[in-house]
Amino acid sequence: METMKQHWTNRTGFIMAAAGSAVGLGNVWKLPYVVGHHGGGLFIAFYLISVVLFALPALVAEILVGRATGAPPIQAFGMLSQRTSWRWVGALGVVAGAIILSFYSVVGGWTIFYSALGAFATLGITLPGGLPAHASAETLSNTFNHFLGNPGLNILFHGIFMLATILVVRKGISGGIERVARVLMTILVGIVLALAIYASTLPGAQEAWNFMWSPKASDFSSEALLEAVGHSFFSLSVGMGAMLTYGSYLGKEHSIAGTSVIVAIFDTLVALLASFTIFAIGFSSHLAPGQGPGLVFITIPLGLHVLPLGSLMTFLFFTLLFCAALTSAISLLEVVVASFVQVTGMNRSAASVWIGLGIFSLGLPSAVSGSTMFFGQGMSKWIGMTWFDLMDKIGSSWLLPLGALGTLVYAGWAVSRKTKEKEILGDGSIPGFYSAWNVLTRFVAPIGIALVFLQLSGLVRLV
Ligand code: TRP
Repeated sequence: METMKQHWTNRTGFIMAAAGSAVGLGNVWKLPYVVGHHGGGLFIAFYLISVVLFALPALVAEILVGRATGAPPIQAFGMLSQRTSWRWVGALGVVAGAIILSFYSVVGGWTIFYSALGAFATLGITLPGGLPAHASAETLSNTFNHFLGNPGLNILFHGIFMLATILVVRKGISGGIERVARVLMTILVGIVLALAIYASTLPGAQEAWNFMWSPKASDFSSEALLEAVGHSFFSLSVGMGAMLTYGSYLGKEHSIAGTSVIVAIFDTLVALLASFTIFAIGFSSHLAPGQGPGLVFITIPLGLHVLPLGSLMTFLFFTLLFCAALTSAISLLEVVVASFVQVTGMNRSAASVWIGLGIFSLGLPSAVSGSTMFFGQGMSKWIGMTWFDLMDKIGSSWLLPLGALGTLVYAGWAVSRKTKEKEILGDGSIPGFYSAWNVLTRFVAPIGIALVFLQLSGLVRLV
């Protein structure tokens, strides 16, 4: 069997694919809008603390379990311990992956739509509901809300995004995923940096900086705390087995510690730079940061169209954001497909198509959540959130922290010391890393995550 197993071509290939999974809509679309929604710096502080104390140790744990077993999540959790009930942690991840991808793909569709709007504007074609030159913040916000309220368009672009994801996953690991990730990541980093530099010259730059780095105690809520913790997992793609699956293709000679730290730093920097850019543009036009999910789709055209070649840059930005979303979506679908292929023996190609179609269907109510239909306004009146919001909450705030907790306890307590030492120390780790990781994984992170859940349930009052 060993000869049939796929592998990354080298360490850079793995880092690129892992970073490709981590960097996505979470960094550019989600973090800025949830930070804006929760009032600013306190959310960022919780998120950063959670990246270091909870998400990074969980990332190491996932890659370790993946590489030690060489199996997809459900099997992997049954292989390193006598107790096969650990497999439920893997199964939970597969469910989380399907739920997250179902709404992620809808937002992925928005990036395709906006890239098309940018292309039309570049060609000088102004469509009704398009991106007119020199539009005000208000006009751009109307454009977004108009689009959001159109179920047909949302379903169409959700479908196109899902199709693209299926096509890459069908091709398998280094043939599809790695090649796509390599090229795109490099261009994306360049663009994000250039935009952040441009944003720092805007009049709103100082206000954006203060907004991000001045935590206000009055912004505290248990929901915000859980959401920030959930987002740290979401952003690093941990808690549902995606990194475990990628780790299962990682060669024994590459350092898990070094790789994880690089991916975590890179992902966090991109998230902070993108947030700064978006807030700086927003504040420069007196646009409140609490715009909701449309924030990036309003601020980027707003900030760019005053520049020479602004429409072209808008087109490029959303095309790249689409690519970043695609390399993330691939990792979500990959987990579900890889587990399914292992369990049923169905071939990868057919499994990719069928599971992709299933997730597309699960995403339909999310695609119409911006409209007056039941899953949008109806549910909003009924339970206070749309279907889209509900999927995000269940997937990102509940299942990911739960999955990460399971992974940490598994790696910390059920996996033998011998296996862990072999995996982490055997590949030339960073000095002191193993002991620090051990303490975080066995005690700090599980207790911390459990406390966050208890705080939310009202059983414990930390603050
Ligand atoms: N990390 C990606 C982002 O920030 C999203 C993502 C990809 C993800 N794979 C994942 C989230 C696995 C959770 C689990 O956009």
